Amino acid sequence: MSETKPLVVITRPIPEAGVDLLRHRYQVKMNLQDRVLRPEELVRFARGAQALLIQLTDRIDGKILDGIGRQLKVVANYAVGFDNLDLAAAKKRQVVVTNTPVVSTEAVAEHAFMLLLAVARRLVEADKFVRAGKYHLWELDLFLGQELRGKTLGILGLGHIGSRVAEIGALGYQMKVLYYDPAHPNDRDLRQRLGAEPATIRKLLTNSDYLSLHVPLTPKTRHLIGRIELQSMKKTAILINTARGPVVDEKALIAALKNGIIWGAGLDVYEFEPKISKELMRLPNVILTPHIASSTHEARDAMARLAAKNIIAVLEGRRPLTSAR
Ligand code: DGY
Repeated sequence: MSETKPLVVITRPIPEAGVDLLRHRYQVKMNLQDRVLRPEELVRFARGAQALLIQLTDRIDGKILDGIGRQLKVVANYAVGFDNLDLAAAKKRQVVVTNTPVVSTEAVAEHAFMLLLAVARRLVEADKFVRAGKYHLWELDLFLGQELRGKTLGILGLGHIGSRVAEIGALGYQMKVLYYDPAHPNDRDLRQRLGAEPATIRKLLTNSDYLSLHVPLTPKTRHLIGRIELQSMKKTAILINTARGPVVDEKALIAALKNGIIWGAGLDVYEFEPKISKELMRLPNVILTPHIASSTHEARDAMARLAAKNIIAVLEGRRPLTSAR
């Protein structure tokens, strides 16, 4: 008699690279509708699963975990961040939570840098101007921007992505790098290789010409950048957020951008995502992208493979490759 294979449930389509790894070993049930299942639909769809592969649009709490059943061993988040999951509830039920760090580092760091350059050189404004047929005459002060070389790049959060952004800035553009991260107060490698300097948050805010955020969303980092922090930044400063929206108080940011407290911002994430404030959309000195920093073919495939490998590891009784602490 053949043994039934464990059930792995995938809440929204992911790249075939990951599904394929799972199909070889398990019974795979994937929601093909590509929409977010409501909590009761998710529970119905996933009931009996030993592994659940979710995206950051799924919100998982104790009630959902109980609904799926006690056989559930692992929830694999197709994301680096896991602020969409109640980690304590998972721990209490001995459900392992995994994530997909490292494999999207390059994509996110490149996106952060692209936003930084695009805001500094007013790329979107200039593009709109040309398309609107307004380019009639070369002018010396048309869309005056800012350069990078020799400027100070502040990195808030020195994980894989923050470190890579620091590296691009220091090695690619000869920027001076300051960083703040209580978990990495004194990173020897970054100091020696890039001349990066650890700083207090105050020094980071007041000295940075460009400030790039790379912290996870936790109760401690919610609104880490608010009115007071923005006011302590340079008037010429540019803020880049590819981390999580609520790390920045969006209302305070809008006021700062409107009133010339800072020069500009590049945002990939929003406080009330996917809702974006109309005021933010009207501002010319901010560039907005729809949470796509890790959206490259390379990263998305690698994230799918890593999520699948984490599931396989846990179902085979091993430690996952990458998990939530
Ligand atoms: C992540 O990995 O956390 C991104 O925000 C989603 O791709």
